[in-house]
Amino acid sequence: MPTLAAAEASNAAFSPSYIPVAVFAGGTSGVGQAMAEALARQTNGRAHIILIGRNAKTAAEILARFPKPADGDVDSDGWAHEFVACDAMSMRSVRAVCAGLRSRLQRINFLVMSAAGPKGNSMSECGETSEGLDNHLSMRYFSRYVYSKELLPLLVRARGKGQHAHLMTVLGAGFGAPIATTDLGLAEARRRTIKCLQGVMFSVAALKAMIRGVEYNDGLVAWFAAQHPDIAFTHILPGQVRTVGAVLDPGWLLAPLGWLMTRLRSLITVSQDECAQWMLYALLDGERGLFIRDSHGDIVSSHVFSPDHKARFVDDGSATARKAGVLNGVPMKGYGGSDATVAGLIAYTEQVLGDIK
Ligand SMILES: NC(=O)c1ccc[n+]([C@@H]2O[C@H](COP(=O)([O-])OP(=O)(O)OC[C@H]3O[C@@H](n4cnc5c(N)ncnc54)[C@H](OP(=O)(O)O)[C@@H]3O)[C@@H](O)[C@H]2O)c1
Repeated sequence: MPTLAAAEASNAAFSPSYIPVAVFAGGTSGVGQAMAEALARQTNGRAHIILIGRNAKTAAEILARFPKPADGDVDSDGWAHEFVACDAMSMRSVRAVCAGLRSRLQRINFLVMSAAGPKGNSMSECGETSEGLDNHLSMRYFSRYVYSKELLPLLVRARGKGQHAHLMTVLGAGFGAPIATTDLGLAEARRRTIKCLQGVMFSVAALKAMIRGVEYNDGLVAWFAAQHPDIAFTHILPGQVRTVGAVLDPGWLLAPLGWLMTRLRSLITVSQDECAQWMLYALLDGERGLFIRDSHGDIVSSHVFSPDHKARFVDDGSATARKAGVLNGVPMKGYGGSDATVAGLIAYTEQVLGDIK
């Protein structure tokens, strides 16, 4: 495990010969904000940093604090610090943002997805977005899938120039929970939710959605990594971090329990700035391949595919294709997918996203 000092020292060595382009979906608060700030400091503002979120005012305040390259510094041509508004509960909104970025950016070196919601970590409320997706999953999985798919061409272009190309999803890596095969969108779980208890106490559907988000992010990185052997993909666990969004909400009936959990949690949390150093350490490490990492940026498991690797996600009925923790024949510790379950997840994802025109 790298110590905080070791992670900081490693990050301090980052000095690219080009202006890095970094997109932080969820960069207006929490871990994403702190990572963007750390990158801005490390590059002395010589970076194109894009914060995506809903809160324009907060974004403006964060961006105003970034260091700026000196006037006339020719090595800084192309730097920019900007905010792009997006409601990640709407796949139409995410697609529109991606189309806008594709139309004006030549490349993306770092795509970091960390937005959380709705209502932080509500364990008591579940529901559907106006597009018919599960609330929790739309934020923690579907929007990240759309960002990944739609922005990957720009990461491919960065790699083509011999630059960093790294996609990172910050959620809950390393648990190795097998990807579900039924009720993937949790419609059934929501139907079974006792409506009068919404917001009052734990909801099984909300808890399931939080766990499913973690499983599905394993599937997301596995799916794209196997098809792009040249790019780095990471699912990482941030650990317990003091962020505005990390308030546990078990519902008002269990509010005292929530209060107690939050107090106990404060004993083991780190600041978002501290966490960001480890996340940045992981982002700048690993040139290509798939990485499952823990809260200190340590690799739980990883695999570098051969350049001519052909992604294999078919349920051919074989034990290997159905074995959780095995990706295209490669055992991966802390990874919950199997080739068959990832195939099922992606087919389902494409189908529901295809229905949202
Ligand atoms: N913090 C922890 O202890 C912890 C522990 C385990 C896992 N995690 C996971 O790690 C990730 C980062 O955690 P965090 O605590 O930094 O998250 P956070 O503070 O809750 O994330 C806030 C970010 O999400 C954005 N966001 C919220 N709703 C949005 C929406 N509808 N559309 C677009 N953006 C939206 C916010 O932007 P706006 O407000 O501008 O919309 C903000 O940028 C999350 O996935 C979280 O689940 C965190």
